[in-house]
Amino acid sequence: MRDLIKVFQEKFNASPTAGASAPGRLEILGNHTDYNEGIVLSCAVDQRTSVVMAANHSSMVQLYDLRAGESAVFDVQNLTNTIRPKWANYPAGVVSELQARQLSVGGFDAVISSNVPLSAGMSSSAAFETAILFGLMQLYKLDVTSADAARIGQGVENNFLGVKTGLLDQFSSIFGVSNSFILSDFRTVEVLGTIPMTGNAGILVVNSMQKHDLVDSAYNERRAACESAAAKLAARHQTVKTLRDVSGELLESEKSLLTDIEYRRAKHVVQECERVRRAVEYLKNNDLQSFGALWWESHESSRVNFENSTPALDKIVEFSHQLPGALGARLSGGGFGGITVHLVQNDHLAEYQDKITGLYKDYCNITPETIVCHPGKGAVSETLTA
Ligand code: GLA
Repeated sequence: MRDLIKVFQEKFNASPTAGASAPGRLEILGNHTDYNEGIVLSCAVDQRTSVVMAANHSSMVQLYDLRAGESAVFDVQNLTNTIRPKWANYPAGVVSELQARQLSVGGFDAVISSNVPLSAGMSSSAAFETAILFGLMQLYKLDVTSADAARIGQGVENNFLGVKTGLLDQFSSIFGVSNSFILSDFRTVEVLGTIPMTGNAGILVVNSMQKHDLVDSAYNERRAACESAAAKLAARHQTVKTLRDVSGELLESEKSLLTDIEYRRAKHVVQECERVRRAVEYLKNNDLQSFGALWWESHESSRVNFENSTPALDKIVEFSHQLPGALGARLSGGGFGGITVHLVQNDHLAEYQDKITGLYKDYCNITPETIVCHPGKGAVSETLTA
């Protein structure tokens, strides 16, 4: 924060009066279940986006992003989603979502910094939206519940940017707990519990450094297939509202109602919810072997049923099976490129990291970014005094 305050003073010739920070997140199990009102096991990470800000008594927002070394300006009275540089559309989206809730804010100046990896699947955008939102809530004393704060961030993606994502990213960024996984329910929109991460294994992120060109449209297509599958099942079964309500048995017995694509998408979601339930039991019993096996199962279902994997992600997960200390690995987040997460016995973590880097480099001549991640705490804000 101190560095940010200094840059703010230099840039804007004044002192910031509010500060906030919000972490990225990792999806542990429960892939694409959030918008199906399912359950997810996730965690916030140590990597965070921080912001300091002050009202500037105009309608203009002036931003400086330290990582990009770029400035951006927009007018809160004339919001569009075509601002350049592109990253400024996230804060503009936050202001727009606040306005939609009659929570207007005036112009402000802000300096931002972040160490959440960009475009990788660790939700740098949710960390950014949440940090800005928490800063504005502090600055303007806005009365917003934590669940609504997550909905505001999701609204930026859904309404301002046109990606039909669920609530997982913002929710994890807000509700994260140090050294713990959080179990979230996206029907009731609440944290059902936190589960401490055991000391014997660590989480390694391996970034494929490759991203599908049509990530957003592929994501929206997956969501549409889940919703049409749910609608067909709901027409026959009163107990079904979303795929959350569908059991494995029901899905099999009504398979003929669905197209092959709808069936496989639904199967992934139904089984992911089941895997989350099993994971909680395994973690309670400290059974990391069985917990990790679910990660491999989950990836296989992404590859075969949900088809949100890529050859590069498949390769990384395939490599994991032969490495010392491997307990499980899977793609994490939306998919179509980005990161894989690996559960690795602590004693082997360094060796595993080296070996997977070498194997991936031999495969495609790209050095993957690898990060040992620790579950971190959720978003915070504070009043700053000069
Ligand atoms: C992205 C979305 C989330 C969630 C995951 C997949 O991260 O933003 O809402 O759907 O993909 O689980």
